[in-house]
Order: sequence, then C-alpha cells, then structure tokens
Amino acid sequence: MKANELRQMYIEFFEERGHKTIASASLLPDNDPSVLFTTAGMHPLIPYLLGEKHPLGKRLVDIQKCVRTCDIDEVGDLTHLTFFEMLGNWSLGDYFKAESISMSYDFLTTKLNIPIENIAVTVYEGDENVPRDDESYEIWMEKGLKDHQIFFYGRKENWWGPAGLTGPCGPDTEIFFDSGKAKCSETCGPACNCGKYVEIWNNVFMEYNKNADGTYSILKQKNVDTGMGFERVLAIMNGKNTVYRTELFIPIIEKVEELTGVKMIEDNEKSFRIICEHIRAATFILGDQKAITPSNTEQGYILRRLIRRAIRHCKKLGADNIVCEIADKIISMYCDVYPELSENKEFILTQLNKESTLFAKTIDRGLKQAEKYFNHISSSSILSSELAFKLYDTFGFPIEFTQELASEKGIMVDMDGFYEKFKEHQEKSRQGAEAKFKGGMADNSVQTTKLHTATHLLNGALRTVLGDSIYQKGSNITSERLRFDFSFHRKLTKDELIKVSDIVNEAIQKEINITCKEMSLEEAKNSGAVGVLDNKYGRKVKVYTIDGYSKEICGGPHIENTRKLGSFKILKEESSSSGVRRIKATIQ
Ligand code: ALA
Repeated sequence: MKANELRQMYIEFFEERGHKTIASASLLPDNDPSVLFTTAGMHPLIPYLLGEKHPLGKRLVDIQKCVRTCDIDEVGDLTHLTFFEMLGNWSLGDYFKAESISMSYDFLTTKLNIPIENIAVTVYEGDENVPRDDESYEIWMEKGLKDHQIFFYGRKENWWGPAGLTGPCGPDTEIFFDSGKAKCSETCGPACNCGKYVEIWNNVFMEYNKNADGTYSILKQKNVDTGMGFERVLAIMNGKNTVYRTELFIPIIEKVEELTGVKMIEDNEKSFRIICEHIRAATFILGDQKAITPSNTEQGYILRRLIRRAIRHCKKLGADNIVCEIADKIISMYCDVYPELSENKEFILTQLNKESTLFAKTIDRGLKQAEKYFNHISSSSILSSELAFKLYDTFGFPIEFTQELASEKGIMVDMDGFYEKFKEHQEKSRQGAEAKFKGGMADNSVQTTKLHTATHLLNGALRTVLGDSIYQKGSNITSERLRFDFSFHRKLTKDELIKVSDIVNEAIQKEINITCKEMSLEEAKNSGAVGVLDNKYGRKVKVYTIDGYSKEICGGPHIENTRKLGSFKILKEESSSSGVRRIKATIQ
C-alpha cells in the first residue's frame, strides 16, 4: 500500500461517515505555553474538546503533523520517531464508544484488511474512582474478539487526561497489531515491547470531569479523540518490521548513500536512521509557517539538537555539508501533501546551511575542551563520566567519538557512569516534557482567555498606530503574560508604544462586547478580518469582533466583554528575528 493511498483512504472513510476534514494545524501550537510542539491531533482541538463550538460541526477528521521530543535519544532504533503524522478522528459531543470502536474496527478489517486474529486491544481495568470500562469490552466482544485478545490495564496504559489538574478525561481503548510472533513470556501482552504487539490506534473516551476535590463526575459533552500512527500502519501494511523500510524513508536513505558514497549496512544503520529521521523532523519544523530558527531555547533548541545530531552522524559516515541536499530530497517527497515545505524551501535550506556552518565552530571548541581534559588525566587513567557527559551535552560529542579520542591517548572512558548520567538526563527531559504538558493545560484558564482577547486588541492597536501592513507572526500566552510577534522592520518608539497601550486601555474602558460569527473564509476575508488565512479550520471560520478595535479570524476562546481585562500594560518590546518585533504585555 502506498502512503498517499492510506492517507486518502482514512480521510474518505471518515468523510463517508459524516466527518469534516480539517487541515493539519501548525507544528508550533498557538497560544499554548504548555508544550513545545503539537504532539497529537487533539492538541489544536482543545478548546472544542472543552466545549467551544467548532465551525465545521461535531465530527472531524484530519492528518496532523506531530513532533514528540521525549524520546529524541532513542531515535536510531527500529521504531522511535520524533516527527510523525497522526491520523485522527473526533466526536465533539456526538457519537461515543459504540460507534467509535465500530468505525475503527471496520476501517482496520475492511479497508486495511487486517484479519481479526491479528487485532488485540486494551481496555481500562477500573479503580476506586472509575469503574472498569465494561462497555468497551462488550463492544469488542460483539465485534468478535476473543477474551485472549482483550487485555485490561490501569491508569498508566489506559487513561487519558485531564489535560490540567481538573477537566475532561476518560479511559481509552488502544488497538494493537498482533504480529503473530510467539509470546515472549507468560505475561506477554500489548504493554510488553518484545515486538509481538505494535500499537496502532488509540481511542480516548472523554466521559468524566475530574473535579478539584479529586472526584469524578460524568461530563456533559462526551468526546471521542482518536489517534493512529501513520508511519507504523504503513509499515505493517507493507509487511515491514520498521518504518525505515517504507517509501517514507527509503528514498532518503538512498540519497544519503549517494551523497556519502557509503552503503547502509548493519554497522552503520543507526547513523543512517538518525540522519534521515532528524533531517526529516528539522525540515518539517523549519518548513512550518511559524518560521522558527535554531537557537538555545525551547523549540529552537530542539531544532538545533536534531540538526547537530544528524550532522555528527553524517561525519561518522565521512561526509560534511550534506544536510541541505538531504532536506531538498525530503521537500520533494512531501511537498504535494504539505505544500508549506516548497513555499518555505529557501528558508529551510538557508537555516540548515547556517546551522551547519555554526556547528563546525562548536565541534572545534569541543575538541579543544576534550584535549584539556585529556591533558589533566595521566595515561591509562579514566575520563570521568561527568566530563564525558559534558562533551556529549555541551559540545554534542557522541560517546563513541569521545571514546575514540580518549583511546588515542591511552585513556578509557567511564562508560557505565556515562550511561547512568545519560539515563538520568533522559528521565529528566521526559519528566520535564510531561510536567510542561500537564502544568500548562491547567493554564487553559480565565486568565489565558483574557490575555488572548488582549492579544487581539494589541494586534488591532498596532495596526492603527503602525499601519495595516503589519501582521501576526506568532503568539504565545501563559497565565502571566501574552507574547505577540509581528512583522515590522524597526524598533517602536516610546511614543508609539504609549499610543498602542492607550488604544487597548481605551477599548477596555469602553466595555465592548466581543462577538463571534461563523462564516466562510471568503466572507471573512471580504469583511476585513485579519488572521491566519491558512484555512486551518476548514471552509467555515469564526470571526471575533471587538467593535471599532479588532476583527480577527480565530478559533477562540475569548471573554465576553473587554471590561474584564482591567488594565493593559506593555512589559517589553524587542526584536524577535530579522523583520519581526516582539511585544510582551500583561493585564492587571
Ligand atoms: N490523543 C490521543 C493520543 O495521543 C489520541 O494517543
């Protein structure tokens, strides 16, 4: 099966069942301080899962570009990816378990022709707060699954949410492809990663609300949120044991072979995978409309790590300066499905080139640093795990590279210690990522909603003071402040900043109601609404108006009246990148 066939088949299947297709949202979430990247299809839909009305209705389907960074160091094995496409379908207060499971089952068995014997599922086993999900169990039994194909697990495996400390959450049922291999042990099941079971789909049933006192009540709007791993399913459909042997990677691998003059063999396979996977992810991140660049913070830092790790592995294969050519290949493979890659091709290639040039300098500094360490260690002694880890973490030296350098001086590396440090570090980034996810969603509060409305007023005021040619380049909101990036070529004067905040405060004092209207994208544009006109929400869009001050295409949510904002204050105005200014502001 071809990749495009699978994409199309999925969308058509759900469209035939009343779902409306939405385009993949940006990889860089809007107004969401909780995560660095869009990690699942449900991400851009959070306001709608919480009850906002979606302009396209209650049944949605899409293919979402996702990036997950917690396993970045695992990439190189057969399965881990940082970038992937997620096939997803949603019910926003419409159908629930029976229909959702039936649709998934039908898709797998009639469209993908997976024999029922090769399906295994997991179901929530229940605890003192929430009963066992017998309903899902019964539905799977009705479909013809046998008891040995249904596994019950607890919170760790079969529960999603809430996104914050309180809010919608519920059990999920996960669907696995059973490869037919023998069980690795008596207790082998979908939670085991021996390779017998491959997770392909997750159907989350948001039926509970977690209350502040820790109890659960039944939710008014019950949602279904599903996500299926595109690359994995494609591999399974083509009888491959790894995504790297599918059409999504083979042409990239061949390009790397051509550029390095090295054939992929067992010994260097890991480097090949890392190069292909990381450059693919970097190409998509750079190719996103939000145009972020490699840096030492947040998304920019992840981008930097991806590119540098790939460059290191190119070096291992004996090649310098090939990342741009690899990216060029990736762009040509994906631009039909993701046209933003060709639109931003020049930006992608320029940034990759810049980062490669910059890293050449870091490598040199790292080598000098390593030399210093070695000079302090007498021959036949050991390089401490701290120093080895520093070379890895600060200068991006792979441990094998450090080992090689050290052995030339007759020095050994404390490998056990290094791996321990490495694991600790991984655990920390995993916990960090999770904490960021959980903590941030708790922020999806009245305060962030207010700051979102304030962002619209700020955008409107900037246009009044600086002219209509400015447009939004980015927005990020925490419960403390808003951050708004916009296109403008110079620093704002003090006078201009005062004017801008006076206009916003004037709008607040006028106590204006915020109104929302659904219309076609065409109507919205004609009405003079500004906003991201990338058809992200499909044909119908919402236009939020603050009469006399702002009219924007936006998914919401917003507060009802400007009065609620209190007063508005600009904290800082600075450069964000070339041609882009950044304002941080708050309300009191
Ligand atoms: N949001 C669910 C997941 O990521 C579908 O697994």
